[in-house]
Amino acid sequence: MTQNLKLKLKMSVRTPFYYYDLALLENTLQSMTEAVTNPNFKVHYAIKANAEDRILQTIKDHGLGADCVSGNEIKKALEIGFEPQDIVLAGIGKSDEELDLAISHGIHSINCESIEELEVINEIAERHNAIANIAFRINPNVDAQTHHKITTGLNENKFGIPITELDAAVDEILQHKNLALKGIHFHIGSQILSLNPFANLCQQANNVIDNLKARGIFLEHINVGGGLGINYTDPDAQLIPNFIEYFKVFEKFLRLEKGQTVHFELGRSIVGQAGSLISKVLYVKKGANSNFAIIDAGMTDLMRPALYNAFHKIENLTKDGNNESYHVVGPICESSDTFGKTDLPKTSRGDFLMIRSAGAYGQVLSSNYNLRDRAESIYSDDTTLEEYISNSKEVLEEQAF
Ligand code: LLP
Repeated sequence: MTQNLKLKLKMSVRTPFYYYDLALLENTLQSMTEAVTNPNFKVHYAIKANAEDRILQTIKDHGLGADCVSGNEIKKALEIGFEPQDIVLAGIGKSDEELDLAISHGIHSINCESIEELEVINEIAERHNAIANIAFRINPNVDAQTHHKITTGLNENKFGIPITELDAAVDEILQHKNLALKGIHFHIGSQILSLNPFANLCQQANNVIDNLKARGIFLEHINVGGGLGINYTDPDAQLIPNFIEYFKVFEKFLRLEKGQTVHFELGRSIVGQAGSLISKVLYVKKGANSNFAIIDAGMTDLMRPALYNAFHKIENLTKDGNNESYHVVGPICESSDTFGKTDLPKTSRGDFLMIRSAGAYGQVLSSNYNLRDRAESIYSDDTTLEEYISNSKEVLEEQAF
């Protein structure tokens, strides 16, 4: 009887939920801003990585700009208080409504990904009697040495204007009186752990800058995108990425002229380690080949393992040790609904598991497939994780008697 009551009351902690360590986010932002020693370097945050209000507010308070890829992201950035001059819009398929919104707010730059787009942007800018600031997003054909599904800067990828089309793009933009070419933009991919691809990107950017200069075009800003990776295998070994070494690459290899600024669009490296997905074990079942730990979080809450075979470290918050092997899987009727195999202490129903490094591309990619509820956000400023979980245990014990 008591046991039954206990089980029932355990349901009172609604899982799964995202837990955000705002102190770690603050420290990451602090380290990042301290690593920027060049006054001409300006960092934007790629909102797509995590668009929770409190996360965005913290990031804005540290003086970053906003990199948006949709009209709704622009609206969100404005609502949080980012200045239009600190907002850029990218994306290979911007709708007329999104362009209208960007132009009516006079955002810093529209990153244009095709020659075809220029005419549309010009028409909308003309209607607003405005000059739209354009940056050409260029595909530099640089290998980011990361997962192919998050590689964006190769010839085979849909992104950006090919370098071979650059001259034609310049010819086109010069014909439009409501467009001003102010910059160039690159983004070669995400979760990049070696700094070599960034060095290669700088060489390509230098060539582009020279080519445009030869045509009499001075660029006010060079946007090198984002992509700096984080340590998923052993997050505690590096909770904060090495921003110093990252920025040094651009300091060393990018040839800048007086008056040129460099823009960065970091997403994962800012928020990745600050978020975890907390889930409860529903059942432990003996399979033919492995023991399954079936948890109440699924690919609807964290898509990365299903989409990219991504590894996220999993810890049992209820017990210590690491002596049994489990295949941790979600409740959804898809074989790709798995978080991978891992060693855990002897795990049982009701244990809390923490799936680490889920702050970036976690909650934003969630869906309500199977009509499941979406995981809510809990913040370290309101409660520690231990408190949050153990408070609910107290409720359980009190009521069990
Ligand atoms: N700028 C542009 C134009 C981008 O497309 C992206 C990310 C970023 C900046 C930020 O990149 P970051 O610093 O976060 O690497 N869902 C995938 C990642 C997709 C990245 C898309 N673009 C994942 O979960 O790994």
